[in-house]
Amino acid sequence: MLAELYAMQEAAQRELGAIESPEALEAWRQAYLGKKGALTTLLRGIGALPAEERPEAGRVANEVKQALETTYAEREEALRQAAAARDLSASAIDVRLPGRAPALGHLHISTQTLREIYAIFARMGFDVLTSPEVEDDVTNFQLLNIPPDHPARDMWSTFYLTRPGLLLRTHTSPGQVHAMRKFPPEPFRVILPGKCYRYEQVTTRSEEQFHQVEGMAVGRNITMADLKGVLAHFAREMFGAERDVRFRPSYFPFTEPSAEVDISCSLCGGKGCQLCKYSGWIEILGCGMVHPVVLRNGGYDPDEYSGFAFGMGPERMCMRKHSITDIRLFFGNDLRFLQQFS
Ligand code: DAH
Repeated sequence: MLAELYAMQEAAQRELGAIESPEALEAWRQAYLGKKGALTTLLRGIGALPAEERPEAGRVANEVKQALETTYAEREEALRQAAAARDLSASAIDVRLPGRAPALGHLHISTQTLREIYAIFARMGFDVLTSPEVEDDVTNFQLLNIPPDHPARDMWSTFYLTRPGLLLRTHTSPGQVHAMRKFPPEPFRVILPGKCYRYEQVTTRSEEQFHQVEGMAVGRNITMADLKGVLAHFAREMFGAERDVRFRPSYFPFTEPSAEVDISCSLCGGKGCQLCKYSGWIEILGCGMVHPVVLRNGGYDPDEYSGFAFGMGPERMCMRKHSITDIRLFFGNDLRFLQQFS
């Protein structure tokens, strides 16, 4: 019995020394220390020994058991440390590697264009004002000389709110009324940027939301020459000094006379191409002398005061500048487009 115990201890410890994996270690534990293991089997056999041999056999069996448990624990710890060391060296950090630059955002192309416009007008002494995106019918249309049911309303497809009389502004022109009511009788010059909404079929050329920048100057001796000078200067600052600028007669209910401003096509230089639809010119904004009715609605006496106004679409302008062919890209949030303007 004693010889068997010692032989088993020796075999068990030899095997244990060769074990490298947690699975093999567990198999070893079951084979020797488990319920059906070799040691347990031998221990059970002690009861069958002659009475005088039992104490000695019991003592040795306990020693063997303790020895096996201790070496088992040591081996387990050694395997754990080896595994930890392997993990560490596999995921070692090379502290000399340069860091990764964090992704930086940038301003949306519409915002960049708006700021470019603000800067040009700021240099000409224009202040920036804002006015509400939710307007009433009176300010968006009627005070701008567009009565209910007037055919001119067809120029603006409108989103009406469920509350009667309210709508999403279709242009920034109602800002003219807010500006005039803020300053009288002082002369002033302001631009009014902001978002506008139209109930449009969405195509490459028209969107349901877009920005506009309205401009307005009111004073005692303002003439069409001032309007021309300001807008020609703006167009060349925005699109390049080599651009030709022309004023073409047009119609808007809130200005008289009204005009549209074209610049010579940036792509073909005026010869005619697809971008300018073979006209050599590209329209950039609408403008005119403030209609006397509108001046009066704003609190300025048209016999004493005059003014000019204009309205432009920054997205449209930006499309001209960068030869962008689809206005939906501006609010489509496709980073592949937006990242080109960082
Ligand atoms: N509000 C016009 C539009 O949305 C643009 C415009 C034209 C504004 C002429 C003006 C102006 O101030 O004088 O189409």
